Amino acid sequence: MLNRQRVRVAVLVSGGGTNLQAILDARDKVIRSAEIALVISNKPNAYALERAKAAGIPAAVISPKALGGKEAFERELQKTLEREKIDLIVLAGFLVILSPDFTSRWDHRILNIHPALIPSFCGKDYYGLHVHEAVLARGVKVTGATVHFVNEIPDGGEILLQKAVEVQPEDTPETLQRRVMEQAEWILLPKAVELVSEKILAGE
Ligand code: GRF
Repeated sequence: MLNRQRVRVAVLVSGGGTNLQAILDARDKVIRSAEIALVISNKPNAYALERAKAAGIPAAVISPKALGGKEAFERELQKTLEREKIDLIVLAGFLVILSPDFTSRWDHRILNIHPALIPSFCGKDYYGLHVHEAVLARGVKVTGATVHFVNEIPDGGEILLQKAVEVQPEDTPETLQRRVMEQAEWILLPKAVELVSEKILAGE
């Protein structure tokens, strides 16, 4: 394989890290133009940190609570990303809303995975299981996942990839979340990382 430079990716997490795991498992398969250089969690006990450790990926905890607020958090985050020469940020189950000041410095360089077909069931308070509870309450027959660029509007950035998933009659929020993860999130996010990394290497 051509021994070319790879895009340095930081994955930001808050919880179980199944999307991080999908990215790690895709290395040198779907993901060939990027290396996962760093995992950052805002929660010290996120299981995602165990997944990073098992994969030998450097990890850091940067906690808004411990640092006394979001401004200090974003300052520390920016410093860490610059020190590690990160090119692309991937939000994978990351639950901190980044400020417009921060996102404007990373235009088209932050990706997020949302567990619904944006513009449905997205925006403030639509995260994790709440999304699937709302999907079931509304009675839609098709849901899915979206990878989008992050801008100043929560879940409002340019859509990159989407994949539809059927809602089954006997679904609970948990069974639906699992299916959306397996059939959409874990497929879309690695693909999006590769797509954007290829564009970055091509100078876009
Ligand atoms: C999942 O609901 C995912 O859709 C959303 O965050 C939740 C946890 O993801 N992005 P993960 O297992 O921590 O990747």
